[in-house]
Amino acid sequence: MRFCFNLLHYKHRDFLRADDLDYVSGPLGISGGKMILSVSNHKGGVGKTTVSTLLAAYTARHTDKKILLIDADHNRGSSSIFFSNREPEYSIFDAFQCYAEDPYDTVSVSGAMKKAVVKAEGYDNLFVLQSSRKLAQITALGLEAETLKDMIEIAHFDRYSLVIIDSGTVPCVVSMCITACDRLIIPMMMSQQCIGPTRNTINLARRKHAEILALLPLTVGKSKWDRLILENWAEIIRDSPELGWELGLMEGIPQSRTVVKADLINGSFPAVALPAIEKIFSALSL
Ligand SMILES: Nc1ncnc2c1ncn2[C@@H]1O[C@H](COP(=O)(O)OP(=O)(O)O)[C@@H](O)[C@H]1O
Ligand SMILES: [Mg+2]
Repeated sequence: MRFCFNLLHYKHRDFLRADDLDYVSGPLGISGGKMILSVSNHKGGVGKTTVSTLLAAYTARHTDKKILLIDADHNRGSSSIFFSNREPEYSIFDAFQCYAEDPYDTVSVSGAMKKAVVKAEGYDNLFVLQSSRKLAQITALGLEAETLKDMIEIAHFDRYSLVIIDSGTVPCVVSMCITACDRLIIPMMMSQQCIGPTRNTINLARRKHAEILALLPLTVGKSKWDRLILENWAEIIRDSPELGWELGLMEGIPQSRTVVKADLINGSFPAVALPAIEKIFSALSL
C-alpha cells in the first residue's frame, strides 16, 4: 500500500515538474549524487550531537565541498552549537508542517526547507538546517517514515556533497532519518541503559536497509564494565555481517572534558575525537 502511495506520489510530481527530474534518476537512496549520513540512536545523551557536529566541522575544514548539517532534534543540540539557542524564525518544523499541508506543493516545501538553512559562522562551506523545540509535537502531523527523504529530494540540495543528520530521539523522526539516509553511524555510551535502544536502532536500520557504517562508543574508559560491553558488541557485529559495518565497532572517543562546544567555536578540534572522526571522514571518500 505504502509502495503504491510512493509510486503514485512520484509519478504525480514528475507530471507536475517535468523539467526537474534528477531526484528520481540517481541510484536508490542517493539523491543527486550527494551522500546522506544519519547519526542516530533511540537513546538520548549518547553523543549524536557531538559526532554530527564534529564530523560536519572536520569535513568542512578539510574539503572545499559544501556540507549540510540537518538538525532533526527538538532539543536543538546541533543548531545551538553553531548558533544561539534562540528559536529560529524558520526551522525544519515549518518544512514538515508545509509538507503535511500539501506534499505535492513542491515549491512551498522546497522553499520552507531552504529558508531553515543558515551558514555556520566562521565557515564558508558549512550550513545548518535548524531545528525547533516545536519538533517535539511532530507526531500530531501524522507523517510517514518516507517524509524526510522525500523533503530532501524535493529541496534538491544538490550543491551539498554531504548531508549529515542529527536525528534526535523523537521515535517517528528517528525512523524518518534512518529511512532518508544512505549510511548510518550509531553512537553509543558505555551504560546498560544504552544497550536496548542501540539494539532497537540497529534493528530499525536493518528493516530500512540502511547501511551501518559504524557503531561508535563515546566516553570509553578502561573499566572492566566498558571492556565487557565492547566485547559484547564486537560479538554482535561478528554475528551479523549482513549489516555492512564498514568500520564495525570503532575504538571510540575516550572520556574527555575537551569534547565541548567551546572547542568548535574557538576553531580548535578536540584531539581525543580526532582518530575516530578522521576514520569516518576517510570512509566517506568524498
Ligand atoms: N568523549 C566524551 N567525553 C566526555 N563527554 C562527552 C564525550 N562525548 C560526548 N560527551 C558529552 O556527553 C553529553 C551527551 O552528548 P550529546 O552529543 O549531546 O548526545 P545526544 O546528542 O545523543 O543527546 C554531552 O554533554 C557531551 O558533551
Ligand atoms: Mg543531541
